[in-house]
Amino acid sequence: MSVLAFLLTATPGFPGNQTPLNPVGPQASHIERTFFFIFWITAVVYVLVLLFLFYAVWRRRVPGAVFPPPQVTTPASDSFAVKAVASAMAVTILLLFAMLVSSFFTSRATAALTSKDPVTINITGHQWWWEINYPNSEADKTVTTANEIHLPTGVPILIESTSSDVIHSFWAPNIHGKRDLLPGYVTDIWMQVDKPGRWRGQCAEFCGEQHAHMSFYIVGESRADYQKWLDSQVLSATEPGDPKTAHGREVFLTHSCVMCHTIRGTTAGARVGPDLTHVASRATIAAGSLPNNPGNLGGWITNAQTIKPGVRMPPNPMPSQDLNDLLAYLETLR
Ligand code: CUA
Repeated sequence: MSVLAFLLTATPGFPGNQTPLNPVGPQASHIERTFFFIFWITAVVYVLVLLFLFYAVWRRRVPGAVFPPPQVTTPASDSFAVKAVASAMAVTILLLFAMLVSSFFTSRATAALTSKDPVTINITGHQWWWEINYPNSEADKTVTTANEIHLPTGVPILIESTSSDVIHSFWAPNIHGKRDLLPGYVTDIWMQVDKPGRWRGQCAEFCGEQHAHMSFYIVGESRADYQKWLDSQVLSATEPGDPKTAHGREVFLTHSCVMCHTIRGTTAGARVGPDLTHVASRATIAAGSLPNNPGNLGGWITNAQTIKPGVRMPPNPMPSQDLNDLLAYLETLR
């Protein structure tokens, strides 16, 4: 599997935004070093084993040899074969021990990141999406979003993670190793992103039918861009500016949308599905499954089951005029 990842990242055009082999933080760099340490040891051993195998198969037969060969008994102490096997075993044990030590120090190094005043974020895994919460001591400045984690670059981040249903695993390979999210238990994850960009992450623990469609993006930004984003997310939803979007909001508030979703600044306040106050500011919908555009959003609202079978979102058939106005309204929620 690792070799496959290696080959994939060596392929021209491979984006490299979801691979441990393109680290953008200190922890992923430690993991990458261990990966290559183990990769090169195992690669050399593999080649040597094959060479010995080919040698054994192709070496010249002893003239007049019979098959099966007669049993030859040699005193064990001076047999070349015994010495060779013993040396190979010793080398194997040494190499395995070197890999163990490397792995131990990598674990220590990845766990060493800490800060007295970190940026703290709460992440909750749901079947099958990620709830992202930026807590604030003033409750009305708390930001809630979904599937897109904006982070300032170059500073330690503390992620307090949990799950609302089953075990999920949070994995952004460019930044950190995998961490399980357990229902009823908070797991701390420290991480740091050193490079601005969009880094894709994926749930790495089978969590049900749509486990494969449970991805997320980490958006690394400069401190100023991050603050700008946070300030815009704190705001309540924009008021409709024309009759079309006003009707769209009416459609939202009178359909089953309000049973699951929040739009701050309206009467919709349910917490079952993602907070939609700034849904149009997100690049994807359905936990990274689809680009966020009116066509995809319309299909998702009408019948999400055809896109992500088993998803908790029920079909919402409605007249096309209502759907168009609803989409126009959702597009204003930047
Ligand atoms: Cu969540 Cu797999």
